[in-house]
Amino acid sequence: MPQPLQSASQTSNIVELECSACGKKYDASVEQHLCACGKPLLARYDLRQAAKTLTLEALKSRPRNLWRYAEVLPDDPPISLGEGMTPLVHVKRLGAGMPCGTGHLENLYVKDEGLNPTGSFKARGMTAAVTRAKRLGVKALAAPTAGNAGGALAAYAAAAGIPAVIVMPADTPSANVMECQAFGAKVVKLNGLISDCGKYVAEHKEREGWYDVSTLKEPYRVEGKKTMGYELWEQFGGKLPDVIFYPTGGGVGLIGMCKAFDEMQEMGWIGAERPRMVAVQASGCAPIVRAWEARQNSAQFFPNAATIASGLRVPGPLGDQLILSMLRQTQGTAIAVSDDEMLHAGRELASLEGVLAAPEGAATVVAARKLAASGWIKLQETVVLFNTGTGYKYSEAWQKALQGTVHS
Ligand SMILES: Cc1ncc(COP(=O)(O)O)c(C=O)c1O
Ligand SMILES: [Zn+2]
Repeated sequence: MPQPLQSASQTSNIVELECSACGKKYDASVEQHLCACGKPLLARYDLRQAAKTLTLEALKSRPRNLWRYAEVLPDDPPISLGEGMTPLVHVKRLGAGMPCGTGHLENLYVKDEGLNPTGSFKARGMTAAVTRAKRLGVKALAAPTAGNAGGALAAYAAAAGIPAVIVMPADTPSANVMECQAFGAKVVKLNGLISDCGKYVAEHKEREGWYDVSTLKEPYRVEGKKTMGYELWEQFGGKLPDVIFYPTGGGVGLIGMCKAFDEMQEMGWIGAERPRMVAVQASGCAPIVRAWEARQNSAQFFPNAATIASGLRVPGPLGDQLILSMLRQTQGTAIAVSDDEMLHAGRELASLEGVLAAPEGAATVVAARKLAASGWIKLQETVVLFNTGTGYKYSEAWQKALQGTVHS
């Protein structure tokens, strides 16, 4: 049952939670999950108030983690491991190999989320979700995971002193299993996909007293992940790139960044223009790409989902309608990439730039090359590829890809 906050709710900078589909409003001072209509809730702030203190100038002297954007985050004592403010790397050598119009991609950047605690951008969502959960006094946290979200939840739960249950497919990369165990979480392995793990959490949570941290089933992971959008603006000196490539599973980062851009516009930081968002998926699990190509507003469950990019193995994303509408609103697109293409591009990114990416991140390299060659990206445009996780956790995949490259 929802637990009231200890302190008065009016001290919170979150004014209310609002349904992303029907607009119904909810009290942010108690535990909330989905709207009665079944869709995700989003946090709303007093942005006029936030804009008074959240400025490029003020940010210069703030700590180099995502809690620097305090005015637009839950204002609870942060459970932090130093997440955020990841490097934005100008990848000139990679761009030189991407023909575009009469030249090649010169303004190509990788936002390297692999440098977050637990090696992925999932840390951003979990620092915010666990911070809020701690304040709400929850007794145990539970989530289904494709891999990295589980590791991040387990770490932040450990830091908060709250027990965690992580439910994952049996064939999740071994580093993800190991980290959850090391962080002291209870690990449940299922023969199935993340959608089956989600069902398991839903079926057990009431009886076990778990707080469900599943993607978009609580409102605060989006809040943490939206800081990727704030960071881009800050790192580009108060402006946004033209195109953002984002490896899309559940789509939380994409939804979060678009939410950040709307907030920035409301605070007067930017106008109505938006980076074109590109959802990159694996050919073996591409529900958003299929829906996009068929000009549909929602996605169908993708049967027999299979890809080495475990984070992209999300056959039925809950936020499908939000993702598709954000692609439309930003004049973006969606594109699928094969596992072989990802592994090849990952080796290229590593050998040319010194960034060992997750296959999910490597997928964005392939997508960018295709859209540069097709003329969808223009020569002078600034393009950001999200490497959402470190390649070091994918030793099984990389070992296979690198077979035969050892000289003796
Ligand atoms: C490395 C990596 N990239 C991308 C994703 C997809 O994330 P999102 O749910 O934000 O689409 C995941 C999710 O597990 C992931 O681990
Ligand atoms: Zn609703």
